[in-house]
Formats: sequence, structure tokens, C-alpha cells
Amino acid sequence: MMLEGKGTVVTGAGSGVGAASALRFAAEGARVLCADIRLEAAEETARAIEKAGGTAVPIARDVADEDEVVAMIATAVEQFGRLDVIYNNVGVPTPRLGSKLEDHTAEDFQRLFAINVGGVFFGSKHAVAQFKRQGDGGVIINTGSVAGLVAWGGAVYAATKGAVHQLTKAVAIEGAPFGIRANAICPAGMPYTGFMAAGGLSGDTDAVAERTAANHPLGKPITAEDCAEAAVFLASERAANITGVLLPVDGGYVAR
Ligand SMILES: NC(=O)c1ccc[n+]([C@@H]2O[C@H](COP(=O)([O-])OP(=O)(O)OC[C@H]3O[C@@H](n4cnc5c(N)ncnc54)[C@H](O)[C@@H]3O)[C@@H](O)[C@H]2O)c1
Repeated sequence: MMLEGKGTVVTGAGSGVGAASALRFAAEGARVLCADIRLEAAEETARAIEKAGGTAVPIARDVADEDEVVAMIATAVEQFGRLDVIYNNVGVPTPRLGSKLEDHTAEDFQRLFAINVGGVFFGSKHAVAQFKRQGDGGVIINTGSVAGLVAWGGAVYAATKGAVHQLTKAVAIEGAPFGIRANAICPAGMPYTGFMAAGGLSGDTDAVAERTAANHPLGKPITAEDCAEAAVFLASERAANITGVLLPVDGGYVAR
């Protein structure tokens, strides 16, 4: 049990990386607040955790709204007595995946920054405040992207992930004297989460997976579970001396 008794929050827990991470956190003994803008999806993940013998509380929260993030963290503290780990995982693609820079509207830009960067900013800000009140450190994990490490297309989305990476490093340095660690997981293409559909891509997911796999030196698409394994490690004491890291989970893509 790598996370025995830890009070944790996972955002975007209704699907993909968030759902897989919430399940893995709980399997390692954590108590998990499963937050998602879609209550039914959060409830489904919480039910799966409870069925497996774990502890989970579902909650509907919009990470782009600071008051909702404050309430989310307050609920975790109320339910679990304290906050040990927050996984700021929510991220949305451009509404029309494949759009060129000049095809993005001002609304696209504002929405992507409000959710992808705003969610990480509010989640980190209020987790740090809670960790400092508790006085014994804490862990922040953010979901970045290889799109924030190398130019990959999707310029506005990529810029939001670059911002997430820089926030992660800055929070790591500010938080270090207080025992607060902050790291980011940077996945490459995960065709089997809800991300492609959220970007308006439908159709043959297996064909997309094949194309994605061909881009990765290890020859496989990335899965939500790959990211969840990295999240468990970063959340645990085994990563006690690791902070400020942008960890690609990318089958070797950025090393190429
Ligand atoms: N899938 C990929 O190819 C890929 C690649 C690199 C990085 N990522 C990143 O991985 C993370 C997880 O994405 P995923 O692939 O699991 O996608 P997903 O669509 O399966 O899951 C995202 C979840 O976030 C929730 N959500 C959306 N907006 C929200 C909001 N404002 N407040 C609260 N919840 C909200 C959705 O309801 C959904 O359940 C994101 O940060 C994404 O940018 C994905």
C-alpha cells in the first residue's frame, strides 16, 4: 500500500487519466475525492472504487471556477480530515482537434486557458494554502503534455500545457521549504480516453491508436493506466526527493 490513508483529490476523475488514477490511488489505500464537472461520471468512478473495497466520494466541480475549487478542497478535508495529495488532471483539447493557430477563436483561447491553466492554478493555490495550514507538506501532481515540451501542433493547447509545466516548476520551488512537492506527468497520445471525442474527433479509434503507436519509439499508444502508475509513484513517499519534474509518459517520443 503506497498511499495508505492519504486524503486525495483527483480532478477529471470521471474519465481517462483521472478515472484510472482515482482507481489506482484507492487500490493503494488512499481515500479519494473524485471530482469532475460531470457528476454521473464521477459517481461511476466512485462506485467502481467502492466495489473494489476502496473509499471514494464523488463530487461535481468545475476546476475553472475558483470558488468551486475552494469548496472541493474543503470537502476533501471535511471527508478525510486532511489533504495529502491533489492531482490537477483536468485538461481539454481545442474544440476542433487539428485546428491551425489562425483557426482558433478568442473564445477557444479563453476557454482553453481558463480550464487547462486556471484549473491547475486554483488547484495548486488552494492545496498549498491547505498544506501550509496542516504544516507537514503535501503533494501536487499536474497533467501536462508532450505538447508542452515539443512543438506538436495544436498551438493554443500546447501553450496552456507549457504554462502548466512552468507553474509546476515554480510551485515546486516555492513549496520546497514547506515540504510541498509538485511534479507534472506529460503524456503523449492516448486515443482511448475521452480526449479525442472532446476535440470533436470521432470514428475509428483503433486506426488512430495505430497511427499514434507508430509515432512512439516503444511502438504502443499511451494508456490512462500508464499515467496512473506514474501518478501513484509521484504521490508516494518513494518520490520523497523528487520535485519540479516534468515526466514524459510517452513511449520515448520526446527523446527521439
Ligand atoms: N488523451 C491524450 O491524448 C492526452 C495527451 C496528453 C495530455 N493529455 C491530458 O491528459 C489529461 C486527462 O485527459 P484524458 O485524456 O483523460 O481526457 P478525458 O476527456 O477522458 O477526461 C477529462 C475529464 O475532465 C472532465 N472535465 C472537463 N472539463 C472540466 C472542468 N472544467 N472541471 C472539472 N472536470 C472537467 C471531463 O468531464 C472528463 O471526465 C488532460 O489534462 C489532457 O490535456 C491527454
